[in-house]
Amino acid sequence: MANDLTLLGIESSCDDTAAAVLCGVPGAARVLSSVVMGQTDLHAAFGGVVPEIAARAHAERVDIAVKQALTQAKMAFADLDAIAVTAGPGLIGGVMSGVMCAKGLAAGTGLPLVGVNHLAGHALTPRLTDGVAFPYLMLLVSGGHCQFLLVRGPRDFTRLGGTIDDAPGEAFDKTARLLGLPQPGGPSVEAEAQTGDPKRFRFPRPLLDRPGCDFSFSGLKTALLRARDQIVADKGGLTVQDRADLCAGFQTAVTDVIARKTERALTMYLAEHPANPTLAVAGGVAANTAIRAGLETVCAQNGTVFTAPPLALCTDNAAMIAYAGLERFALGEYDDMTLAARPRWPLDSSAAPMLGSGKKGAKA
Ligand code: KG4
Ligand code: ZN
Repeated sequence: MANDLTLLGIESSCDDTAAAVLCGVPGAARVLSSVVMGQTDLHAAFGGVVPEIAARAHAERVDIAVKQALTQAKMAFADLDAIAVTAGPGLIGGVMSGVMCAKGLAAGTGLPLVGVNHLAGHALTPRLTDGVAFPYLMLLVSGGHCQFLLVRGPRDFTRLGGTIDDAPGEAFDKTARLLGLPQPGGPSVEAEAQTGDPKRFRFPRPLLDRPGCDFSFSGLKTALLRARDQIVADKGGLTVQDRADLCAGFQTAVTDVIARKTERALTMYLAEHPANPTLAVAGGVAANTAIRAGLETVCAQNGTVFTAPPLALCTDNAAMIAYAGLERFALGEYDDMTLAARPRWPLDSSAAPMLGSGKKGAKA
């Protein structure tokens, strides 16, 4: 049995400054602490994440987050085996804040530095939370990303499909903005949708008529904008019920598209790996109850095990970065002081670039 490894993880690629300490081996690790310092209040007035404000806030807070994570885990630097840090993709100023902090700590303590791809952090989370064995199918749905990944190993990811324009979280955020709801939009739209009639507005289900499991969400957002403007033109404004109905219609369309595309991705995946029928979901949008329920149904119909990490590990956090770092470090891999912060860093470098980046939004 391999010895336990203890890692500090640092995450600062978007609008959460996070640090965590984790201990264990690949497939069996436990989170000793996970500190997430959000910045929602700093960006609220701007309707989205402002990169420069985010970068400054990360630079000011990242060492505080690290200190808190170590204290909560009752650990000192001397107890650690390595320091893992998100080296991309993300808002470059934020990523640099984290990487510079990690480099400083590594230089000061002599600990190895492990650069982690933020997306690998999300994609490997089911191994941290549920010890899921390779291979498995991963659906990553967040504010900046949307893709199906075939995960065969800690550095073996094949993209089966993804968005050609917006990410679903971005669509939720924009919908909230169009309806005057607070950010982040996902939870606001979900809360409104609870009292809405999902059948009043029939929004499009983009790309369902095409084969494959690519997504498109920008047309859906435009349809919502048109429906909103039509109500305003007819009645002079939106009632509480109008808003709830728009949210319910939008959420139902997104849920439907995600469920149907997941069915296709599962068929592709199961043809190759019939002995490992597992779908894992990650990213902030996985917090949505309706979307989770849709995925659960598809999995049940396809004899597939469905795994969704607890909410705190679905959204951005540093425990997933420490864990992805642990998987790399256990293979003997680490970086030196030339580790670069990368704004773009596809997990599957062999996949053809998407038509759209899928990373155009505030959280890209
Ligand atoms: O993974 P995450 O924390 O950050 C990155 O984008 O990397 O995801 C945040 C995104 C936001 O767009 C937010 O609106 C969305 O996840 N989100 C949700 C829900 N909670 C968060 N979308 C739909 N329903 C939710 N309940
Ligand atoms: Zn993320």
